[in-house]
Formats: sequence, C-alpha cells, structure tokens
Amino acid sequence: MKIGIIGSGGVAKVLGAALAARGHDVKLGTREPAKLSEWAGGARASAGTNAETAAHGEVVLNAAAGTGSLSALEAAGEESLDGKVLVDLANPLDFSKGMPPTMTIHNTDSLGETIQRRFPRALVVKALNTVSVEVMTAPAAVNGGDHTLFVCGNDAGAKARVTSLLREWFGWEHFLDLGDISAARGMEMYLPLWLRLWGALGTPRLNVKVVR
Ligand SMILES: NC(=O)c1ccc[n+]([C@@H]2O[C@H](COP(=O)([O-])OP(=O)(O)OC[C@H]3O[C@@H](n4cnc5c(N)ncnc54)[C@H](OP(=O)(O)O)[C@@H]3O)[C@@H](O)[C@H]2O)c1
Repeated sequence: MKIGIIGSGGVAKVLGAALAARGHDVKLGTREPAKLSEWAGGARASAGTNAETAAHGEVVLNAAAGTGSLSALEAAGEESLDGKVLVDLANPLDFSKGMPPTMTIHNTDSLGETIQRRFPRALVVKALNTVSVEVMTAPAAVNGGDHTLFVCGNDAGAKARVTSLLREWFGWEHFLDLGDISAARGMEMYLPLWLRLWGALGTPRLNVKVVR
C-alpha cells in the first residue's frame, strides 16, 4: 500500500525502510527532500515534500518532531489529510534546554488533540509514541511480543484499521484502546516515565504490559 511518513529523522527512516522492505510504497516527507537523497530506504522508498508525502499516502504517519508537527502537517495540507487515517506517533518534547526534555503540551491538552482540532476531517489515531522505534518495528524482540500498545482516537473504524495494519506490518498483538483522542494526554505524559525506564534499564528496547 502507499504510505506517507511525515518526517526525515531516525524514526521516519527506520519505519520507512521497514515498511518498504515489506513491499509497501513509502514516501518520507521533509522541508528539504534533497537531504534524503542519500537515504537508502529501498527500491520502494522515496522522499518528497510534506505535501507530496501526504498526497501519496493512503495512510499517513506523523513522525515529525513534536514541536514541528503542526507546521509540518500544515505544509502537508488539509486536503491531502481529509478522510485519511493519520497515525500520530510524535511526542511534544522540547530538548532545547537539554535532558530531560520538557513537555510543550500537557495536563489539559495534548499534541494528538491539537492535531485533531486543526485537521477535523483527518482520522487521527495516537499510537506507537509510547515505544522506541526499535520496538515499533519489532515488538517480538521484547518479551516475545507479550506487551501492550496503547491507542486512542475519536473514530472507531480508524483505530481498528490502525491496529490491523500494525498487526500486519510488524506483528503487534496486544492493543489497549484508551478511548477518544483526549487519551493522548496520558499517552504523551507517559514519556517522562518512559525516559526514566530507559535510564534504569539501560536500553530503549522495553515496554510495559498491562494486566488485571
Ligand atoms: N526515537 C524514538 O524511538 C521515538 C519513539 C516514539 C516516538 N518518537 C517521536 O517520533 C518523532 C520523530 O523523532 P525523530 O527522532 O525521528 O526526529 P526529530 O529529530 O524529533 O524530528 C525531526 C523531524 O521533525 C521535522 N521538524 C522539526 N521541526 C520542524 C518544524 N519547525 N517544521 C516542520 N518540520 C519540523 C523535521 O523536518 P525537516 O526534515 O523538514 O527538517 C524532521 O522530519 C518525534 O516526535 C519523537 O518524539 C520517537
């Protein structure tokens, strides 16, 4: 399928290469497509502007920096996102003052909600932001895949589509639907804990499993 990934950083490149390796037609979006000319994402991967990338994708993934996501998506263009599933995996983290980062949106709002408000006809699903890119693309490498991926969004059909795609693409098995897009607050505010888990365990190859 045609997949548009808004972003040119490490996450977009790893996701893009993994999806292209599975036979998908992937385009990465950036303000400077020339800087991805050396990127070897595979024969079925290409780079373009954010607008070209959003138009290309049957499904669009937001893998831009949290602080740049809104402007990257503005450049992508509202019409190209209309009616499409938009998987938002970005975290609103500000690294400008060093580590640990601070959250630019929190408590009473989230990046996921901000994106959904700005693009009301896009079907925004928050997912994948709670795991490192290594785990996003290879969940089985952690505890045999027996751990939890949180998702949220306003459209039940879009969430079902995303969980089905993540199962097919990467083998994700255990999803926990936290409800409407306002659950993105908790999913994003989990990041300070996730960063401490990384520090404590010495690896980003980690995740949590919710049990009852
Ligand atoms: N690292 C992980 O394992 C991990 C896990 C979960 C979620 N995430 C999230 O994934 C996202 C991508 O992370 P990353 O480390 O690959 O990249 P990053 O360094 O956080 O962001 C780079 C991307 O953001 C875009 N960008 C930055 N400022 C912008 C602005 N003002 N306007 C438009 N675009 C802007 C850049 O676009 P240009 O190419 O145009 O410069 C580039 O594509 C982040 O939101 C991060 O929180 C990361």
